[in-house]
Amino acid sequence: MTTNKNKIQFLLGDKLTEIEFNSEISPTTTVLNYLRSLPNHKGVKEGCAEGDCGACTVVIAEESNNKLTYKSFDSCLIFLPSLHGKQLITVENVGTSEKLHPVQEALVETHASQCGFCTPGFTMSLFSLYKQDFIPSKEFIIDALTGNLCRCTGYKPIIEAAHKCCGEHNHDYFSENENETILKLKGIKNSTNNIVIDNGIQKYFLPSNLAEALQLRTDLPNATIINGGTDIALRVTKKHEIITTIIDLSQTIGLKKITKTDKEWIIGTGVSIEDVRIEVKDIFPALYEMLSVFGSKQIRNKATFGGNIGSASPIGDSTPVLMAYNSTLVLKNTKAEREIKLREFITGYRKTQMSSDELIIAVKIPIPNTNEIIKSYKVSKRKDLDISTVSACFNLLKDEKGKIKEIFMFYGGMAATTSRASKTEDFLNGKEWNRENIEKAMKLIDEDYTPISDARAGAEARKIMARNLLMKFYNDTINL
Ligand SMILES: Cc1cc2nc3c(=O)[nH]c(=O)nc-3n(C[C@H](O)[C@H](O)[C@H](O)COP(=O)(O)OP(=O)(O)OC[C@H]3O[C@@H](n4cnc5c(N)ncnc54)[C@H](O)[C@@H]3O)c2cc1C
Ligand code: FES
Ligand code: FES
Repeated sequence: MTTNKNKIQFLLGDKLTEIEFNSEISPTTTVLNYLRSLPNHKGVKEGCAEGDCGACTVVIAEESNNKLTYKSFDSCLIFLPSLHGKQLITVENVGTSEKLHPVQEALVETHASQCGFCTPGFTMSLFSLYKQDFIPSKEFIIDALTGNLCRCTGYKPIIEAAHKCCGEHNHDYFSENENETILKLKGIKNSTNNIVIDNGIQKYFLPSNLAEALQLRTDLPNATIINGGTDIALRVTKKHEIITTIIDLSQTIGLKKITKTDKEWIIGTGVSIEDVRIEVKDIFPALYEMLSVFGSKQIRNKATFGGNIGSASPIGDSTPVLMAYNSTLVLKNTKAEREIKLREFITGYRKTQMSSDELIIAVKIPIPNTNEIIKSYKVSKRKDLDISTVSACFNLLKDEKGKIKEIFMFYGGMAATTSRASKTEDFLNGKEWNRENIEKAMKLIDEDYTPISDARAGAEARKIMARNLLMKFYNDTINL
C-alpha cells in the first residue's frame, strides 16, 4: 500500500475517476461544485449550500464486508477527498431517458414533479431508500425525505412514488453490477493507504488508521480536524474561508467501531449519527429519541458522534443526553489514553479539556440500571431539520417508597454550554415525585439559568420552555 500524493480515485457512476489537486482544484472543493463543473452532471442543484434543502442530494455507495451500502448525502457539505475509494451516484447515473430507473418511473407515474428543481434530490433520496432490502413504512419514507424540500408539488405524490417503487425487489443496474463495483472499489482501497494533498495553498490529510491520525495531530496541532464535516464545511460554503490545513478523519478505521458489553457500550467517534441512532434504539431509548429529531437523513448519514461532541455547541443535541447517561469520553494522543466524564469535558462556549495533540476516540455509555428513568426532549421551530432552541435530558432514580433518590437534569440552549440545573436538582432530591414539588422546582430553574435572547427565542421564552420540559417529564413518568 502507498500514500496517494495529491490525487484521489473513486467511481463516478461506474466510471473510474481520478482527481489531481493543484492550484486550480482545492481539496475543499465540495462534491456539489465539482459535479456542477462537469458537462454532464448538472442535475444536482444548489439551493442553500448548508444542508437544509436537499437539492444537492447524491448517493454514495461504500464497500464493507463484500457488500455495498447506499446512503444519501448533501453534496454541498462534502469535500472531494472523502470520496476516495467510494462510488458517487448522481441522478444522471440512475437511469437514462430510454430506460428510467424504477424510482424515476414511479415519480413520473404519480406526477411527483412540477418545476423540477427539487426532483433530482428527491430521486436520489428515494434511490437510497429503494436500495434498502425491505418495504418501508410511511414513517420510514417520511424520515428518508425530511432533508428534501419541495416548493411546488407538495409531498403527497412523492410519498406515493416511494410506496410504489420501494420494496423487497430492489433489483436494478446497480445490483446487476454489484460484484464488479466491489472489485473496483477494493482495487482502489488496496492500492492506497493515506491521502496527502498539498496544492501549495492548502494541505489536506486523509489518514486511514488511528496511529497515523494521532501522529498528524501531534505534528500539526493547529490543523482543523474534520470528521463528518457538517459543521466545518459551512466555514467554506457560507464564509468562503480557505482552511489551510485539514486532518480529515472520515476514513480513519479505528474510530468506526461499536463495542457492546454487559456494563457499557463504547462507541467510536467516527460512527455516523444515523448508525448510532439505529443501534441504540432498545438500550438507550432517550438517545434514540433525540437522534431521531437530529437534522435530516442526509445530515445524520454524514455527521459523526464525535463531531457533535467535539463542536461543544450549547445546542448540540447529543450532549445533554450523553451527560444524563453519565458518559465518559476516551481521549488519546500518540503516547497515552485518558478518560474524562463528559459532564466535566466542556468548560465554556465551544471550549473543552481536549489538548491540542489529542483526539476524542470513543464515548463510553454505561447501561442504565432498570430503575433509572431517562427521557430526552427537544424544542425547535420545526420538528425536522432544525437546531434546538432548548433541549433537555432528565435521569430520575426513585427509592423503594417512590421518593426521588437522585435526579439529574441537563439542558441545552440555556447557557454557553450544555449545563446542569443543580439548584433545581438539589431542591428535588429526597422529595416526593409529585406535582406540587415539580411546580416549586420549576420556579428554581430561573435561578439555575440566565439564557440569552437570539433569533431562535427570547430569554423569557427559553425559561418557560425549560420549566415546561420538567413538567412534561413529570407527566410522562407519573405512572412509571
Ligand atoms: C443542516 C444541518 C442540520 C443540523 N442539525 C443538527 C441537529 O439537529 N442537532 C445537532 O446537534 N447538530 C446539528 N447540526 C450540526 C452538526 O451536524 C452536528 O454538530 C454534527 O454532529 C457534527 O458532526 P461532524 O462529524 O459533521 O463534525 P465536523 O464538522 O467534522 O466537526 C465538528 C467539530 O468537532 C471536532 N471533532 C470532530 N471529530 C473529533 C474527534 N474525533 N476528536 C476531537 N475533535 C473532533 C472538529 O474539530 C470540529 O471542531 C446540523 C448541521 C447542519 C448543517
Ligand atoms: S444545496 Fe441545499 S442541502 Fe445542499
Ligand atoms: S417541483 Fe418545484 S420545488 Fe419541487
